[in-house]
Amino acid sequence: MPEKDVVRFEVSDGIALITLNRPDALNAIDMNMLDGLSAALDRAGRSAEVGGIIITGAGKKAFSAGADISVFHKASPEEIKALARKALTVFGKASTIGTPTVAAINGYALGGGLELAESCMLRVAVEGALFGHPEVRIGAVAAWGGTTRLPRIVGMGRAAELLLTGATVTAGEALQMGLINRVAKAETLLEEAEVLLRKVMACSPLAVSYTWEAMRRGMDVTLEQALETGVDFFGLAAGTDDFREGTGAFLDKRKPDYKGK
Ligand code: COA
Repeated sequence: MPEKDVVRFEVSDGIALITLNRPDALNAIDMNMLDGLSAALDRAGRSAEVGGIIITGAGKKAFSAGADISVFHKASPEEIKALARKALTVFGKASTIGTPTVAAINGYALGGGLELAESCMLRVAVEGALFGHPEVRIGAVAAWGGTTRLPRIVGMGRAAELLLTGATVTAGEALQMGLINRVAKAETLLEEAEVLLRKVMACSPLAVSYTWEAMRRGMDVTLEQALETGVDFFGLAAGTDDFREGTGAFLDKRKPDYKGK
C-alpha cells in the first residue's frame, strides 16, 4: 500500500474488511486513498480465502465526505479529468471484482464517498448517515460515477433531485428510495452488513457474479439485448460444477456445497 493505514485491510472468517482511514478529514478521498483502495481490492480479489468484501469508514462520523476538496481546488481541468478517470478505474474495480461487496456506511456518504458506495453491490447504513451529491454546490460535477450509477440505482427523477440540488437525504429516505438496502444501529452496522453479505456468500459464487454482471451490463443496452445477456450468463453458470451441485442439492434435499468452480 502506498501510505500506511490510509486504507486498512483485514480478513476474518472469509470476509475482507476494507476501511477508509482518514477520519480527521472525514475520510476524504485523495490520490493516496484511491491507490490504497485499489491495492486492497486487488488483495481481496487475489485471495482464495476471501469470499466477500465489506467497505466502511474509520471513525463515527463519516463513511467518506467525498473527494478531497483541497486537491480539487488546486487542480487544472486536465488534472481533474485524470483524477476522475483514476477514481472510475478504482471504483470500477469494486463494481466488477466479482466478489460480493457491501458498503457499511457509518456516517456521511457524500460525493465521491457516495460514488464508492454506489459501486458496491449492496449498502447498509447507520440511522444517522446522510447521503448526497453536493458537487454542484462547489462548482463540480459528480463524475466519479454519480451521474451514471445513481440514476441506475434509484431512477432518473430521484437522482436528478440529489445531483442537481446537492441536497442530502437521511438513511430513512435513502432506504425508501432504494439507495440503501438496510438501516442499522451504529453498534451493529458491521454485523448487519455481514449478515447481508453472508446471505449472498451462501449462494453459488459464480452464479452471484454472473447475475451481477447480467444486471450491470443489462442497464446499458436495449431490453432485448439485456434479456439475451441474462441468457448468456445463465449459459455460463450452467456450465459450472456449482450449477450441478446447487440443482442436485435441491433434489437431494440437502445444503449445497459450492466450490466456486
Ligand atoms: N475534502 C477535504 N477535506 C474535507 C472534506 C472534503 N471533502 N470533507 C471534510 N473535510 C475536512 C474538513 O476540512 C475538516 O478539516 P479541518 O479539521 O482540518 O478543518 C474536517 O474534515 C472535518 O470536517 P468539518 O467540515 O469540520 O466537519 P462538519 O461536521 O462541520 O461538517 C460536512 C461535515 C460533511 C457537512 C462537511 O465537512 C462538508 O460539507 N464536507 C464537504 C462535502 C462535499 O462537498 N463533498 C463533495 C466533494 S466533491
